[in-house]
Amino acid sequence: MPRGVSHDQWYADPFPIYMSRAHGSHLWDIDGNDYVDYYGGHGGKMLGHAPPVVVAAVQDQIEKGTQYGAGCDLAVEWAELIQRLVPSAELIEFMNSGTEAIMYGIRLARAFTKREKVVRFQFHFAGAYDAMTVGYKKPFEVPASAGILPCSVKDTVVIPMNSEAALESALEKRDVAVAIAEAAGSSSGVVGIHPSFYEVMRKLTDRYGTLLFFDEVVTGFRYSPGGVQAAVGLTPDLTALGKGVTGVMPGAGAIAGRKDIMDLLLLKDEEWNRYRRVSHSGTFNANPLCAAAGIAYLKIIATGEPTRAANQKARQLRDGFQREMQERRIAGCVYDSGFSVVHVYFGHCHLMAQCDRVVCLNADKTRDPGTGQALFMNLALNGVKTPTRGYDFFLSAVHSEEDLEKTIGAFGKSLDVLLAEKILSQNG
Ligand SMILES: Cc1ncc(COP(=O)(O)O)c(C=O)c1O
Repeated sequence: MPRGVSHDQWYADPFPIYMSRAHGSHLWDIDGNDYVDYYGGHGGKMLGHAPPVVVAAVQDQIEKGTQYGAGCDLAVEWAELIQRLVPSAELIEFMNSGTEAIMYGIRLARAFTKREKVVRFQFHFAGAYDAMTVGYKKPFEVPASAGILPCSVKDTVVIPMNSEAALESALEKRDVAVAIAEAAGSSSGVVGIHPSFYEVMRKLTDRYGTLLFFDEVVTGFRYSPGGVQAAVGLTPDLTALGKGVTGVMPGAGAIAGRKDIMDLLLLKDEEWNRYRRVSHSGTFNANPLCAAAGIAYLKIIATGEPTRAANQKARQLRDGFQREMQERRIAGCVYDSGFSVVHVYFGHCHLMAQCDRVVCLNADKTRDPGTGQALFMNLALNGVKTPTRGYDFFLSAVHSEEDLEKTIGAFGKSLDVLLAEKILSQNG
């Protein structure tokens, strides 16, 4: 494997950590070291690793088959559950990942509106589809990967978040098929969305005939059981769902959208089928194993209890981290965007005075990658595992008081090392 692992965010210097087991809120590496896990299946595991009810459902199903090459009753039950939870889910189409959900969502939007352009917001991530490789990393106009054709990104328009003027100016020519947003802001709220901007997105997309597409791949069943859209009371036209739709049983995704758009997937006469419909294939779509996991998982999510528990634990972690930083007089901020993902920022902030410490609207701040990696490594040495970028913590309903205490202690110890090594400074 080039770089030893198969995901950029798993690579670490001097070497990546290799895991061999996971249960609840914990991971164990190949040397037997125990970590409290805050990557949580890249944000999709609200019930931690291997929740017993989901494991039982998967074990039961695996003996009955994993792929039928046909529809199955479990997929219908799974779709009905999603429909009950997610406001935009008039109809659902299953696929295999968040990336696929974004790709097909854009395809549906272009076919429906007969327009080509896609608007997206600076720093928002949306998976690996070619058209989404510009916009999430500076310089925004350069694809974040080699091998992307200029024609694949020429119709992707990148604008700042929370600017009504920028959105209006991008949409007013009426040539934009779809505006896509990570529903809680970039990287699950590193830069958040101003509460009033949701209404602005709906109003302007409606005014200019553009579809509104929410990427709820992480927030879908985390922010609330019905995602950000259920919590803020705004129904997008299309929603991309991914890892959270099964609690990270690999690999599932879905588009949950308006019936008239989703009906582009219908099969009709020959002329329609060949020239006008949106086609969709995929060997593992709506497979019974993912459906069994998804049903078991979403039934628990639907109670709302996991969301409440994870949110409350995020508050505790946020407050504990803030205390550790204040005690050491380290400038910065810890915030949680009002749900269960905690973000750390080191440095001063020009918006600090008018900020509620919940939703961060500072799009100019930089989180130094080297400092993040040093934080990741020091936390790991103290039994806490985050994404290798270091600054973000995905909570679950099963993180214990002991986990949180250990993590806050590990954060303090890591800050001491970062200060001693002059990676961080007091008041700086
Ligand atoms: C917000 C967001 N959208 C899309 C994706 C892509 O999902 P997948 O990795 O399942 O392709 C991710 C994955 O991390 C994500 O975080």
